[in-house]
Amino acid sequence: MTHSQFQSQGVAAAPQAQSSAPLELAIVLPTLNEHDNIAPMVRRLEDALGPTGWEAVFVDDNSSDGTAEEARRIAQADPRIRVIQRIGRRGLASAAIEGMCATAAPFVAVMDADHQHDPALLADMLAAVRSGGYDLAYASRFAEGGNADGLSSKGRETGSRVANALARKLTGSELTDAMSGFFLLRSEQLRAQADKLSGIGFKIMLDILATAEPRMKVKEFPLKFATRLSGESKLDHGVILDFVGGLAERWFGRFVPARFVLFGLVGGLGVIVHMSVLAAIYWPDSIGFGWAQAIATMVAMTFNFWLNNLLTYRDKKLAGADGLFWGWLKFCGSCAVGAFANVAVATVLEEQGFVWWGAALVGVAIASVWNYALSSKFVWGR
Ligand code: GDD
Ligand code: MN
Repeated sequence: MTHSQFQSQGVAAAPQAQSSAPLELAIVLPTLNEHDNIAPMVRRLEDALGPTGWEAVFVDDNSSDGTAEEARRIAQADPRIRVIQRIGRRGLASAAIEGMCATAAPFVAVMDADHQHDPALLADMLAAVRSGGYDLAYASRFAEGGNADGLSSKGRETGSRVANALARKLTGSELTDAMSGFFLLRSEQLRAQADKLSGIGFKIMLDILATAEPRMKVKEFPLKFATRLSGESKLDHGVILDFVGGLAERWFGRFVPARFVLFGLVGGLGVIVHMSVLAAIYWPDSIGFGWAQAIATMVAMTFNFWLNNLLTYRDKKLAGADGLFWGWLKFCGSCAVGAFANVAVATVLEEQGFVWWGAALVGVAIASVWNYALSSKFVWGR
């Protein structure tokens, strides 16, 4: 297809790249079902950045509404628009990291594609990092002059403030909005620490600030957080679980993998579920102990599978009837192997003269490590 054919089809939604200014700033826009927001966003970037050499990198997790197609359609007429389409992956933070590592621009910004972030701030943010002596510039909803009006609910706003306060305590930073998803820094600096970032969850800027050495000098810009132009938030349902996971990662991540801690916590809850079910259904004259135990085991395993899928492996979440069914089956298989190892080890130890509860605890510990290893590889591994 020739160039003129594209034009006659009216493909160009954004103006052609006019400037031959050297590439200076990449704007990374993670997307998940943002089809209708793409073209207007490209127009707003053009208005905001004009003659600056810029490119936009849409990092799309294979949206079902054709977001990646839409970005490619615009990119055919405007080479400043780029698309990374990830298959079988999910996650705002990892999408942002991959986008930031995929540019040759010396400065890189991350921003939401749903128009809640105002691209008009980009020029000043760039100036602050390029020549203002700052390492990172970001947009804050809670700085003076900003607002959080665009948050979908009062509960969400309260949650955001609480999360912010916690984050300030944990990182010792003075930021008014550590949860912000709109920031800009030198891409070289980002690449230098990219392998230390967790890639899980939404709190990517916080992670960048926490892993930077020496500490970054940060400039805040007040942001009037707008309402979404089109579509719906992806954060509402998972936001609390995401935050719990993030905290676990911060607190325990240095000693043991955060995933293992979460796996253990879920396992502990599973024991409670198991005992509750057992207590509820076991009645010596009606149902035999073996049956009651089998039912309780199934319920607890299913509960553990569900919670691990939501929390421990939330970045690799299995979905759809098929994915869930096979995942559940493989999870039960892993648990069966773990249970066998548990009984075998504990029995041998007890025979060797170990005190009974010591033998049982070692059995449980071995089974946990075993279950964790098996399920990370076979249930949620890719
Ligand atoms: N590639 C990819 N993968 N993009 C995603 C994913 C994902 O799994 N989840 C969300 N996004 C994209 C959305 O398409 C949107 O462009 C942007 O990330 C923000 O997602 P929203 O779903 O609109 O988040 P929000 O508005 O609820 O959350 C905002 O506030 C948070 C703090 O309260 C965002 O600014 C977050 O960045 C911020 O942490
Ligand atoms: Mn949003």
